[in-house]
Amino acid sequence: MFPQLSLIFLFSLVVIHPFHVSAKTWCVANTSAASTLLQANIDWACSEGKVDCVMINPGGPCFDPDTVISHASFVMNDFYRNHGSTEECNFSGTGQVVTFDPSYGGCVYT
Ligand SMILES: *[C@@H]1O[C@H](CO)[C@@H](O)[C@H](O)[C@H]1NC(C)=O
Ligand SMILES: *[C@@H]1O[C@H](CO)[C@@H](O)[C@H](O)[C@H]1NC(C)=O
Repeated sequence: MFPQLSLIFLFSLVVIHPFHVSAKTWCVANTSAASTLLQANIDWACSEGKVDCVMINPGGPCFDPDTVISHASFVMNDFYRNHGSTEECNFSGTGQVVTFDPSYGGCVYT
């Protein structure tokens, strides 16, 4: 009776779904943040078992590159994922939400 409506319905199934997928966000270290603050984020999160820091330890898939900013980004995203909301990526202004997947090689940002 309303073929246009059926078409619109099908169209939205196809088109809207990918928007949900691409709306995923990750949390990474702000590249302008002081490394002492980023190291403090790592120490805080790892010491209290808030995140699994085996990933950024020697032998872990996220150890390389062995930089504070890389390790902090992984830990901050892990915390963000487990406590999901934008405020949880603040880290006193040292975090930033991004819409691209920061994963590389065997280091998977969930
Ligand atoms: C990153 O940190 C700098 C310096 O603190 C700040 O000016 C900038 O707004 C921050 N960027 C984001 C995306 O939070
Ligand atoms: C993030 O942290 C900064 C510094 O502590 C603070 O000024 C700002 O209000 C915070 N932003 C949010 C959204 O909580």
